[in-house]
Amino acid sequence: DQNKFQAIISHCKEYGFVFQSSEIYDGLSAVYDYGQNGAQLKKNIRDYWWKSMTQMHENIVGIDSAIFMHPTIWKASGHVDGFSDPMIDNKDSKKRYRVDHLIEAHAETLPEGNGDVLISKMNELLAADDLAGLKTLIETYNIQCAVSKTANWTDVRQFNLMFSTQLGSVTDEASEIYLRPETAQGIFVNFLNVQKTGRMKIPFGIAQVGKAFRNEIVARQFIFRMREFEQMEMQFFVRPGTQKEWFAYWKEERLKWHKSLGIDPDKYRFHVHDKLAFYADAAEDIEYEFPIGFKEVEGIHSRTDHDLSRHQEFSRKKMQYFDTEINQNYIPYVIETSIGLDRMFLLTICDAYVEEDLTKDGKEDSRVVMKLPAKLAPVKLAIFPLTKKDGLPEIGKELMDKCKSAFHCFYEEKDAIGRRYRRQDAIGTPFCVTIDHQTKEDGTVTIRYRDNMEQERIPMDKVKELVLNKINE
Ligand code: GAP
Repeated sequence: DQNKFQAIISHCKEYGFVFQSSEIYDGLSAVYDYGQNGAQLKKNIRDYWWKSMTQMHENIVGIDSAIFMHPTIWKASGHVDGFSDPMIDNKDSKKRYRVDHLIEAHAETLPEGNGDVLISKMNELLAADDLAGLKTLIETYNIQCAVSKTANWTDVRQFNLMFSTQLGSVTDEASEIYLRPETAQGIFVNFLNVQKTGRMKIPFGIAQVGKAFRNEIVARQFIFRMREFEQMEMQFFVRPGTQKEWFAYWKEERLKWHKSLGIDPDKYRFHVHDKLAFYADAAEDIEYEFPIGFKEVEGIHSRTDHDLSRHQEFSRKKMQYFDTEINQNYIPYVIETSIGLDRMFLLTICDAYVEEDLTKDGKEDSRVVMKLPAKLAPVKLAIFPLTKKDGLPEIGKELMDKCKSAFHCFYEEKDAIGRRYRRQDAIGTPFCVTIDHQTKEDGTVTIRYRDNMEQERIPMDKVKELVLNKINE
């Protein structure tokens, strides 16, 4: 549903969630900024992941490794040689395309059977790294460039997705380094440090959240595919031979995490990878049904001892672990869980966004409400004195002072109450409290619940506890 997707993108901008990067300079493609509400929502998602990984699992610790790393790391990881996509340029429009995007878009215009044939031929050629074959396929199907409607193509070439820059002054000694394309390698290269200093016993995990960079050739998908994004990754080190069990464990554990946020469980599914990397033992994605279809949000991979072995080979440092239970030395096997924070943000927004028709007794009315989980909402409580006088603002500020150290509150005295409620609905604030003249008499306030819009009177000194209970649920 492209319309819903477009509506969500507009909403994100209008209410300070996500802005195009460098917008006053006409933007930077596939790079985005988070606004006042978006930054807080993103932080809440990050914190929730971090807490459930590190605090809730006694055998997982968190680290924060640097974005810049020794360039040999990316040789060992395979990114220098293998992290590339086949691209093709249209000679007339000077536009560059990812070959798979170009062919997939064309396949969609064909009758179903023919489209499927095209896709399966493409997959065979991609798997065989047959760049000339891909070009022939593009020519055979007379695939044209969407912009200039011509089929004047260059050869297909591999483009590495890593951004590079120079470390140090640009002289002889300057060396080319990369902006990391994933956070995982920062975990692998710290395996020994963490295992030894934390006296970690297998099985144990190392988690990390941080920026990653990929020079993606992007179709317009908002924050789904970005050039600068954030990953939340966890590598779980296990005894060889136990990886199947741990893979099953982490699949279930991660799906439970998603469901614990109250997100519609019917919108999730697992996607089993058709082709595994040569070293991998199992790989599945958690997919969510976005308005633009089912798409990957998180990957769970059984990576054997591939990564640590490669780092042992390239660094010549022993990546072994001595398992006292079985008196054996080995390079641990790894189960990885890897989720994009921005993609989880998009999922959360898509799941929460509702356009509600409130027409009643012939009186037309509607609202846009973000039914965000209370623990993720950027603002938890809005405090509204009914009027600007009669001492009501003072009572409101008193409540604000009492609550603001415990959770994020918002105070507003302008405009009709109905309008103030709607603005909070639009950013997903689960609770609004109104202070009126009765408050002065009996100390009660009206609390209004976002999702069903119901209101009730409760003692003002119960508000903090009520909100805290909900956000800790
Ligand atoms: N260490 C494994 C790894 O990086 P990946 O499948 O390339 O695996 C993991 O990335 C997750 O990171 C994806 O499931 C997705 O959520 C997120 N991700 C990857 N590329 C992204 C991009 N260009 N923009 C936003 N998120 C991205």
